[in-house]
Amino acid sequence: MNGSEKHYLERLLDPEDRDMIEKEEHFSQVMMMYSCAIREVQTKLEVLNDDLKSRYQRNPIHSIKSRIKKPVGLAKKLRKKGLAVSVDSIKGNINDVAGVRVICSFVDDIYTISEMLTSQTDITLISQKDYIEHPKPNGYRSLHLIVETPIFLHDQKKLMKVEVQFRTIAMDFWASLEHRIYYKKGKDNQALRQELKDCADISAQLDLRMQAIRSAIENLSLIHI
Ligand code: GTP
Ligand code: MG
Repeated sequence: MNGSEKHYLERLLDPEDRDMIEKEEHFSQVMMMYSCAIREVQTKLEVLNDDLKSRYQRNPIHSIKSRIKKPVGLAKKLRKKGLAVSVDSIKGNINDVAGVRVICSFVDDIYTISEMLTSQTDITLISQKDYIEHPKPNGYRSLHLIVETPIFLHDQKKLMKVEVQFRTIAMDFWASLEHRIYYKKGKDNQALRQELKDCADISAQLDLRMQAIRSAIENLSLIHI
């Protein structure tokens, strides 16, 4: 639809419909900006991984997943917090509209890569939750960062928030399954909770042992894995 067609159509609409269309356009624009912010952060992480691969034969990032929070999820979260459901409220109150999950091979890779990302001059670290150093009571481990990244539009620069979760493969294995079967499912069962916590402890031990094996191999052969 070109500009004059759009103008003509808008004149036919009553003010309430026009308002709804404007709100929807504003919403899509903001979602587009969050999706650009994800791409910025994802590219930065891929560049770091490529650089470490080519210089030190390291491959600290196993995989990266990203997602934009869906409108239903956004509305649910705002309502739960007792806040208005609007585009401004989303921008002001929700930090995980844009989410990037970085799955690393080893625990120390998490700290290396997150440090490299947050020390970049155009990235601002807004907040950090270290559930690796301090796991949640249920056993959940991950490093969560909220960062702000610039995106460059045709006429302006916007600072967008992105939630970046860093996990090892073992942490992701546990969290993905726990998320499917237990997290926020509204049920509670002491025996199952304990069983899941035991599995989380085993996965934490596995990470420590794999890290130790890697260090031993590096010391033996003087190569980096
Ligand atoms: P949300 O309202 O779920 O976004 O949590 P929050 O605002 O309290 O933030 P927090 O940093 O604690 O958690 C953010 C995200 O981490 C969640 O949306 C999940 O993806 C993940 N997460 C946090 N706790 C758990 C957990 O116990 N189990 C699993 N599987 N994932 C979790
Ligand atoms: Mg969340």
